[in-house]
Amino acid sequence: MSCKKPNQHNDLKTNDPHSYSKPEEAVVKHLFLDITADFERKIIHGCANLDIERKGNTKEIILDTKMLTIDSVYVTENKGKKYKATFRLGEGDSILGKPLHISIDENTQTVHVYYKTSPEAEALQWLTPQQTQGKKYPCLLTQSQAINARTWIPIQDGPGIRFSYSAMVRVPKELLALMSAENPVQKNKDGVYHFSMKQIVPAYLMALSVGDFAFAEISNRCGVYAEPSMLEKCKNELTETEEMIQLAEKMYGKYAWERYDILILPPSFPFGGMENPRLTFATPTIIVGDRSLVSLVAHELAHSWSGNLVTNANWNDFWLNEGFTVYFEYRIMEALKGRDYSEMLAILSQQELAITLEDLGEKSPDTHLKLDLKGRNPDDGVTDIAYIKGYFFLRLLEETVGREKWDGFLKAYFNENAFKTMTTEKFLDKLDALLTPEQKSAVNIQAWVYGPGIPANCPSPKSTLFASVDAYRQKYYEKGNWNQTETQNWNTHQWVHFLRGFPSPSPKEKIAGVDNVFHFTESQNPEIQGIWFEKALQAKYEKAYPAVETFLVNVGRRKFLMPLYKEMAKTPQGKEMALKIYQKARPNYHPISYMSVDEVLK
Ligand code: BES
Ligand code: ZN
Repeated sequence: MSCKKPNQHNDLKTNDPHSYSKPEEAVVKHLFLDITADFERKIIHGCANLDIERKGNTKEIILDTKMLTIDSVYVTENKGKKYKATFRLGEGDSILGKPLHISIDENTQTVHVYYKTSPEAEALQWLTPQQTQGKKYPCLLTQSQAINARTWIPIQDGPGIRFSYSAMVRVPKELLALMSAENPVQKNKDGVYHFSMKQIVPAYLMALSVGDFAFAEISNRCGVYAEPSMLEKCKNELTETEEMIQLAEKMYGKYAWERYDILILPPSFPFGGMENPRLTFATPTIIVGDRSLVSLVAHELAHSWSGNLVTNANWNDFWLNEGFTVYFEYRIMEALKGRDYSEMLAILSQQELAITLEDLGEKSPDTHLKLDLKGRNPDDGVTDIAYIKGYFFLRLLEETVGREKWDGFLKAYFNENAFKTMTTEKFLDKLDALLTPEQKSAVNIQAWVYGPGIPANCPSPKSTLFASVDAYRQKYYEKGNWNQTETQNWNTHQWVHFLRGFPSPSPKEKIAGVDNVFHFTESQNPEIQGIWFEKALQAKYEKAYPAVETFLVNVGRRKFLMPLYKEMAKTPQGKEMALKIYQKARPNYHPISYMSVDEVLK
């Protein structure tokens, strides 16, 4: 069953500090996943059938597992004989889980691991009907990045190891199953679904969701899945997606994954989006009615090149995934909506980066682009440094060599390294050939990549749309006589920028005054709610508290939860309020979110 393609070769020695596997000795080539989603026990059980390739004369293959129960392991020989194999779960640790050692020999073709997940699996969230939009059916969703695939599949779980996969998934008859693969467009009668992903992908891009989903087409290669009651709204919000794909292809080459669909999940999805190949998973908090938050789609789409085609070799090179993707995201948005629009996004990011730098400390090694996360959870590296410092570094390179030359370089980079892994060092080698000696010294690559903080030559974005917001805020702040005709055509980003410019804390009267005019407390736009509730909590503006609670109970996107819980945790009364809300809210959150909030409120 092993399918060998010319592009399947990759650098096997990945020096990945977050995987026990030794792909240079024995490596997974194809996975056939044969599983059942058991909603009653909140577990997945079944068999991972792994076609392997043995290098040299190793006597074992090592898989990553975490909180899995291994029931039995079989191997199939190349003559077709299947028999029980010896296996052993090693010591492991609380971050990485446990290595699964399986004995193999020169005849081993496939290993079959029969297993069950734990109800506590970090990748899995089992939603009750109450936690969905329709309130009628339960829902399951996975999140494998960074190292959670091993909590639902015994696999070699490092971004440097790629394999093709197929799957057979049994689910309750009234639900639809979807994966990061070729997908069905409607439910079938027996609740058994077959999937195939022919291209080779790393384990962190394995994804499954099971729920009451329906499909709507956007173009002949692109569409949206959502709960039926949301479907029309989602489709309308995301109609620009096909245009985005075309703009992206024009810049950096053909879209490599055939279809691009988006699954809009219930609000407890812990991230904004996840670039699962062929099927981006996204939060419903971008569905606001005016298409103002679709840059998130541009971001996840951009990962189809940066990340899914050219993949960070291990999580120390994470900025290669996210920095490139933010750069690409803004280029798509610039092509779609103009430079002034994409500059708004860049300025908002710049503001977030400043806060992150303050949190981490300007001298912290965690502010280097290239990280050293050995012994730590790779999630520690998921900060604005990888995303936004990474973005500004690439923007500086663009501004240094000129857009035309830079775009040619990037197009070749994606093309030549497709389905391969990339290290920071390999990328810098390529840069070396691009830049003149003068340009090299002007950029100072060393400082950007291996040094702390933000070098002084960081580009500075400019937006006339935001300049007018700043002028407006200044003009009316003192008197509080906010003129509403001037703000009539503002978009979400302008409102967010407007509110971020308020002092922290602002006087309660100011907050009450501006709420009387603009009714932020009643806003249904999560981006506006997020910043508004932060300002309201700082000002002790109690009128907003019930809305804060409703928001935190309903939304599980970590980006919105963290600032609000952190804000409340600053004072004893605030913390009391936070704990009260959290008691109600926690059962609605994905493990990834509640583990982060637990830390804040412990
Ligand atoms: N791949 C990330 C999400 C991720 C990163 C999950 C690391 C786990 C570990 C995804 O592409 C992403 O960056 N999502 C952002 C949205 C984006 C518009 C910046 C998010 O979820 O906020
Ligand atoms: Zn991303």
